[in-house]
This record gives sequence, C-alpha cells and structure tokens, in this order.
Amino acid sequence: MPACMLPSTDELNQSAINPLKNLDVWEDDVLERYPDPASIASDKSTEAYRNYDSPERDTVREFYRLNHTYQSYDFVLNKKANFLKFDKKEMPVWDAFQFLNQLVDDSDPDTDLDQFQHLLQTSEAIRRDGHPDWMVMVGLLHDMGKVLCLFGEPQWAVVGDTFPVGCAFSDKIVYPEYFKNSPDFDDERYNTKYGVYTPNCGLDNVHLSWGHDEYAYQMAKDYLPEPGLYMLRYHSFYAQHREHAYDHLMNEHDHEMFKCVDLFNPYDLYSKNPTPPDWNELKPYYETLVKKYLPATLKF
Ligand SMILES: [Fe+2]
Ligand SMILES: [Fe+2]
Repeated sequence: MPACMLPSTDELNQSAINPLKNLDVWEDDVLERYPDPASIASDKSTEAYRNYDSPERDTVREFYRLNHTYQSYDFVLNKKANFLKFDKKEMPVWDAFQFLNQLVDDSDPDTDLDQFQHLLQTSEAIRRDGHPDWMVMVGLLHDMGKVLCLFGEPQWAVVGDTFPVGCAFSDKIVYPEYFKNSPDFDDERYNTKYGVYTPNCGLDNVHLSWGHDEYAYQMAKDYLPEPGLYMLRYHSFYAQHREHAYDHLMNEHDHEMFKCVDLFNPYDLYSKNPTPPDWNELKPYYETLVKKYLPATLKF
C-alpha cells in the first residue's frame, strides 16, 4: 500500500504519520480557502466543496501541524540531496503516469477522480482557453511529483502549501501557529525577516519547503520554457501567489514570472469535474505533445 494512503482498519501509527485520507483532501481544503470566483459570481455555490464541519478538517489541521513542525531548513536540504539525485527509478513517460495513478484512495475508490484525471482536466482546461502547448504540458505534468508518496515519503513532505525555510515564517501561511513547533522557530540563523537570505535575492536562491512542486520542477527543468517551470515550481506557494507575503525575497524577474503562476493556478484549483475526459479521443494529441517536450523516459 502506498505510504500516502491509509489502510481501512488499522494502525494508529500510520494515521499518525499520514493523517489525510488521501492527497485530495489537502486540495479540497485549498479550494475552501480560495473558492472559485466564477462560481461565486454565477451563484453556482461552492457548497459541493465546502464542508466545514467535516472530520476531514481535523485531519487537515493535523497534517499542517506535522508539515510545519518537520519542514525545517535542514530537512529541506536533506530531501533535496536525496531526491534530486534522481537515482530511484527510470520509466517511460506513460508508465510514469500509470505509476502515479497507484495513488488511489483505497478506502473510497469511487468518489475521487484518479491523479491522471486531475492532470488531464487541468491540461484540457488550459488547452480549451487557447494557451500555448507548453502550458498544456505543464498542466499534464504539474502533480507528477506526488510519486514521492510511492517512495515512502509522508504526506506532509509531498503536498501542502509551500513556504520559504531559512527565514521567518509568515503569518499568512495557513495554520501559522504550528510553526512554534519547528526547530527553526527559535533558531536565530533562521527566524529573522531575511534569515539566510538577502533582500530581493530572487526565489531561485530561496529554499521552499520540500514537496511535489520542487521535485517536478527539477525533473522538467531542461524541457520546458521558463514560465512553465515557474508554474511547476511555485504552484503550491499560496503564501506568495495569493497572499504576497514574500515580496521581500523576490526580484523583478520573479514578479514578472509570477504572472504566469497566477495564470496557471485557477486551472489547477477550479478545473475539477466529476465527468472524466474521454481519454481515447484525447490520446493522439497528448502522445504528440509528450513526444515534443519530454524525453522518452523520466528519471525519479
Ligand atoms: Fe500540485
Ligand atoms: Fe494539481
């Protein structure tokens, strides 16, 4: 069983490590925080997504407690040293999508679309709006990094809003109170406004909490244009692209590129639809697209 999924019966231990029923619970929570303005405007209520009394809310809180407690500066550097060697596995691209799809919610297989459907709905929404094909490619690839779960990584080291480490945590990050548990919170190397960084040093010089965004960016960085790479790398950095909490670390170029991150985000958040796209119809287009941008095999 993948590390991100919970067995139906047992193991306090496992639920202590991975509190979420599945990874989508995090994304559902993001959607509650940042509901689709289009559905609000058209009075197509977001009730379908909102469930404030849900016990899932407690699992999300516990998930962030773990995330904020353990995603320290040293933790991030260690994970980068390990996973950015890309020495775990090598797969043909389409096998990699199948591999990612092992992340299904075993306890509730019918309610959620699988990971590939989310990728396809994101990329199709981008395509429908006439964006360049590399952005469609970003849509299809953006959550590939979630395979980290299949390498035994806990949920809080794969998903969740990302944030800079090595400097003070912003109170604009979701559940900021849990940062008190971080070893970095009282460490004076890391707890000032700039910490180990300098003013407007540029995000490329800043370490963000470790997860599927950075991993997918590093995987794709030789194959996609720069705006697409920003979309991959920062798509979960809500504290910046929604809350603008880290302008002081960004340079001019980051600000320019974040227009692209802003453009991408609604496709990720608001493209979910219970009806899966017709893959057989779409397959030829995507086979050509993947051939155009990606090598025959992907390294993990
Ligand atoms: Fe994502
Ligand atoms: Fe996504």
